[in-house]
Amino acid sequence: CGIVGILGTHEVAPLILEALKRLEYRGYDSAGIATLQDGHLDRRRAVGKLINLSDRLVHEPLPGKAGIGHTRWATHGAPTEANAHPHQTGPVAVVHNGIIENYRGLRAELSGSNFESETDTETVAHLCARFMAQGMDPRAAAVATIARLEGAFALCFLFHGEEDLIIAARKGSPLAIGHGEGEMFVGSDAIALAPMTEKITYLDEGDYAFVTRAGAEVFAADGTAVTRPLARIERGAAVIDKAGYKHFMAKEIHEQPVVFAEAMARYAPGNLPVFPEALDFTRFDRVVLVACGTGYYSCLTAKYWFEQVAGLPCEVDVASEFRYREPPVAPRTLALFVSQSGETADTLAALRYMRGRADLVASLVNVGTSSIARESDVALAILAGIEVSVASTKAYVNQLGVLAMLALHASHQRGAMTAPQIAAELDALRHVPDQMRQVLALEPEIARIARGLAEAKSALFLGRGVMYATALEAALKLKELSYIHAEAYASGELKHGPIALIDRSLPVLVIAPHDGLFDKTVSNMQEVMARGGPVTLITDSAGAAIASEGTRAVLVLPLASRLTAPMLYAIPAQLLAYHTAIAKGTDVDQPRNLAKSVTVE
Ligand code: G6P
Repeated sequence: CGIVGILGTHEVAPLILEALKRLEYRGYDSAGIATLQDGHLDRRRAVGKLINLSDRLVHEPLPGKAGIGHTRWATHGAPTEANAHPHQTGPVAVVHNGIIENYRGLRAELSGSNFESETDTETVAHLCARFMAQGMDPRAAAVATIARLEGAFALCFLFHGEEDLIIAARKGSPLAIGHGEGEMFVGSDAIALAPMTEKITYLDEGDYAFVTRAGAEVFAADGTAVTRPLARIERGAAVIDKAGYKHFMAKEIHEQPVVFAEAMARYAPGNLPVFPEALDFTRFDRVVLVACGTGYYSCLTAKYWFEQVAGLPCEVDVASEFRYREPPVAPRTLALFVSQSGETADTLAALRYMRGRADLVASLVNVGTSSIARESDVALAILAGIEVSVASTKAYVNQLGVLAMLALHASHQRGAMTAPQIAAELDALRHVPDQMRQVLALEPEIARIARGLAEAKSALFLGRGVMYATALEAALKLKELSYIHAEAYASGELKHGPIALIDRSLPVLVIAPHDGLFDKTVSNMQEVMARGGPVTLITDSAGAAIASEGTRAVLVLPLASRLTAPMLYAIPAQLLAYHTAIAKGTDVDQPRNLAKSVTVE
């Protein structure tokens, strides 16, 4: 969820709406705003995208110069208006990002209170109102409330009769305070506040703050007053524009050649990759990669690279498993976290687990001001530019690009490959943008295949080696965008179970460049065709020349290496999902039930 609070000099509802728009990546199933007018709390909430709330505000305006707002990704309780934030009880309104884990116990304690929603958050409002009814002032009541909460939260409180006070608190979920001229702001991230101020203070873990138009008083969890540093962010950091494309996703897919070249120029300006000194691979004996969602698949690809190109043992895990597994960490371990947003709660928690355990905590992020970037020893920008579409495309491909260069860097430092060999690999990577353009030119053909796919109930992607990771990402993209069930299997594993699924109605997409594993994958493809499975083969000219017979369709990509293939073969995966979604009429940029970054666990 995303939260925002403003103590302004003008009407705040439109400003809060604009800030929420920038936070919609954190969820978009309902939204709400509360303001104070003449000391009275009032609120408007609406189910669905922000546009519904903004429509509502046209007919039922919400005046006031102090307010809080929220865009939700449902955890406790369905996305209904009653469950939408702000939650308001008597003199208190609250917006919340996170999960209050002890809310059941608190709710039981508050019996007699009239609960209107099924949310954990409403308990916070009731608890605070109860303290106020006992005679506490808003500051004391909020502090007493915060002290009772377990779990993860970023909170903003607004109070009846207090036109110049927002109380903000942070534990587990990030929160930034923005400083203006006689105005103050609170937001889940710096990007939300970027149009309004460039001066930001990040609250530390456990901090709470009394925010007034004159400034913010910040306190650590134990109540001691503290000063947190002022950071400057770039104003207008988030220019959000579809540049003539129908969807952000289409724009972002087509931007890939350009942003990939930018990452190459940054990390490989010459014959060798260039990374910060701390990334000294002579100091590491292993690398542990952790991420969620699409980032996990870029990590899985990198595992093949670190092992094959750099001879470096590599483990990969999804953050939600890693964080609770209590994995022992061997000495000389590099921990590397991959997150587009840099705000994913599971990944952040996994990073914190590795602090003090790994020799170095590094991250690959697309948002330099994000929590994960700030808590890493080294944060590498992937330079994809703002990615708006919930389904990740250019960020994935740029994660791959930076990881490929990092594997080459490791290979060089560990003496696994010679300098000329590395220079040749980098040259091949520099051709990727041109090759990507050739792949993008296949869009009409891919759209045709997608129209067939849109009829299917389910689809199966197969690949081996690095292409196994690509197959997994292709299946994820299709699921996210078209709601068609899709799975990916390592093609060698097909015979051990999933082959039972094969029949005429199950489209099978085989991702197989003509590499050292091609013949093996083609054998698995034959096993599918022998059982009547309709096959689409995604390969190159060499592969197509050998293995097209009997397939339903063949897509021919440029010749690629193990380092370049994952970026090139990602594009048909993206375009297939995109055009299947178009054929089915689903919401391309904001698929149902998802959020761009999930900031709860
Ligand atoms: C959400 C998104 C996914 C994304 C994942 C990790 O679940 O819907 O598309 O891959 O979070 O996000 P991150 O920002 O950490 O890469």
